[in-house]
Amino acid sequence: MEQLKQTLTKIWQEPILVGHQYLPPKIYDLLWNITEGILTALLYPICIVVGVVSFLYYNLIKKGGKDLFKSSEEYNYEKILIVGSSSGIGRSLALEISSKFATRKNQKSLTLTLVGRNLAANEKLKEECSAIIKESHPVEDFEINVRQADVTNAERMKEIVNEMDYDCIIANAGVTIFVMMGDKKPSEFTTLEKIQMEFKCWETNLTGCTNTAFPAIERLIQDADNGNKKRRHVILTSSGTAYFPEMGLYPTAKSALIGIARNLRAKLESSPKYSNLRVSVLVPGWVHSSMSKAFPAKEMQLGMISSELAAKLTWSGIERDFEIIDISGVWGLIMRVFLKFPFNLSSSLVALLDR
Ligand SMILES: NC(=O)c1ccc[n+]([C@@H]2O[C@H](COP(=O)([O-])OP(=O)(O)OC[C@H]3O[C@@H](n4cnc5c(N)ncnc54)[C@H](OP(=O)(O)O)[C@@H]3O)[C@@H](O)[C@H]2O)c1
Repeated sequence: MEQLKQTLTKIWQEPILVGHQYLPPKIYDLLWNITEGILTALLYPICIVVGVVSFLYYNLIKKGGKDLFKSSEEYNYEKILIVGSSSGIGRSLALEISSKFATRKNQKSLTLTLVGRNLAANEKLKEECSAIIKESHPVEDFEINVRQADVTNAERMKEIVNEMDYDCIIANAGVTIFVMMGDKKPSEFTTLEKIQMEFKCWETNLTGCTNTAFPAIERLIQDADNGNKKRRHVILTSSGTAYFPEMGLYPTAKSALIGIARNLRAKLESSPKYSNLRVSVLVPGWVHSSMSKAFPAKEMQLGMISSELAAKLTWSGIERDFEIIDISGVWGLIMRVFLKFPFNLSSSLVALLDR
């Protein structure tokens, strides 16, 4: 009894974070689970109130209610760069942009640049896009370029981004470890090999994306400083897995991309000088593509949509300037629920998924 009293006194006197020095680990874990549960139960109602109040404050007081019921307008971008266009979502985006341009009366020109390592696939895509546009536009109205590049090569990406005055730059290249594993099963790799692959995957998804986005933002800011008021947009492709980053370095990188995009957008929004510059983040769930084909657990691919539908929704979100173009559907919802689990439960879940 005396010992318990002493322990409780020590915990009370010192921060709960160091309580593990006085308690058996399991009891310490249990206490944290209960604490997290209580905090979550208390915080959720508060979050609802704060969410509603901040929505009303922003839209009714700060914006004067003028945008509340206005449907967002489509903006026609004319010089578009798609990085990661040779397959899947990027490829369908190029076709969607071409179809939209072909049917639009109010847009006179389009320049589209397709980037990836697979030159042949992008050359083929160039032909397909040209065929769509040629149905309603003379050849002098459009230009489609193909550039071969690996996004992890920062110098090359900077060169491509600065080739012309792009008004829409989509940093869409990405890879998962399942694509990197090729025909081999996860069980055929050692733990070290898997971790090495995770870091390589991070390099493409995070560094590769910022290798495109950062020089793009830099140039757009310099142009705005020089008086260019034209609307310009940078889009980063994240993933629904970003809502539960504990699953690996792919979701961790994608989660960082959501943070980076929102932070850049907020920085630009806060300066009237850069009110023509936009940053958005695309959050897909399961989309039919080379990436989704490589995923071993097909039964987990809930809410799968075609890359054509994903491209339609994405392009509409870009033209309407959504901050977060979330098309992750049911998958994103499940990931968000996982995120809310107490650490202990989510750690067991991660261990289960990693088996
Ligand atoms: N499909 C899904 O279910 C899903 C879900 C969430 C998020 N996403 C994200 O959506 C984006 C598009 O993926 P997807 O589903 O369309 O997959 P995909 O069909 O495999 O396309 C990936 C694209 O990224 C390019 N890429 C990969 N590594 C590259 C590198 N090192 N350098 C340059 N380009 C590279 C590929 O081009 P090359 O091979 O020619 O280099 C390809 O065009 C990715 O960022 C992905 O993470 C997809």
